[in-house]
Amino acid sequence: MPIEPMPVELLEYASDLFAPEDAALKALTRAAQEAGMPAGWEITPDVGRLFQVLCRAVGARKVVEFGTLAGHSALWFARALPEEGKVYSIEINPEYAAVARRELAKAGVGEKVEVRVGAGRDMLPALEREVRESRTPFDAIFLDADKAHYPEFLAWSVRVLRPGGLLLADNVLRSGSWGGQTLLDPTATDPRIPAIREFNRLLATHPQFTATLVPIRAGVAVGIFHGSSALV
Ligand SMILES: C[S@@+](CC[C@H](N)C(=O)[O-])C[C@H]1O[C@@H](n2cnc3c(N)ncnc32)[C@H](O)[C@@H]1O
Repeated sequence: MPIEPMPVELLEYASDLFAPEDAALKALTRAAQEAGMPAGWEITPDVGRLFQVLCRAVGARKVVEFGTLAGHSALWFARALPEEGKVYSIEINPEYAAVARRELAKAGVGEKVEVRVGAGRDMLPALEREVRESRTPFDAIFLDADKAHYPEFLAWSVRVLRPGGLLLADNVLRSGSWGGQTLLDPTATDPRIPAIREFNRLLATHPQFTATLVPIRAGVAVGIFHGSSALV
């Protein structure tokens, strides 16, 4: 029997109950609008709450995310970490990074979130070096930028995640505004689509991950790493 899509009012009921947006999250959305950031690119509260549950489940203390925008996902992560926890948030646009730093400080997590400016892939060697030198791998990695290169981020993640750590990635089921092209269209010309198909295939079959795709919003990949970090 086909499964009916979940009615929107039930999804809203669940999100309002478990992931109500507080003043700080609303302030981030306002700041994003005022700064002219694209609307609706931030993770939604239901996804933020899912990430918090997962971070708490694995006892996350050190998280890196690619794609800061105004800082919504950074704030959800920061609030799930213990006092000494740290979120490294990588953003290519210096103006967005400045807005995020300012707003995250106002939200009370300025000390917990370090926003770094640069292209995600360019930052990988430095992040890897820091993991090696500190002998502290990441507990969670969240991919939400440079979607045409998700497979490369997956390859990198096995070198810097601790055993039991999380790999999370957004937009793995639906392409939304990507020229109306869908994930399953074999003729899709947007380079992000074949890259995400390849990422999903690699993650599904990866011997060092137990993973699934959660069909929430644009689709979120959740993988638990059970290899051993090559670095520490
Ligand atoms: C989907 S938004 C991130 C949303 C954010 N994670 C949140 O939930 O609020 C993607 C962000 O990645 C940034 N970006 C795009 N390409 C990038 C790259 N190669 N490296 C780092 N950031 C990039 C964009 O400027 C944008 O702010």
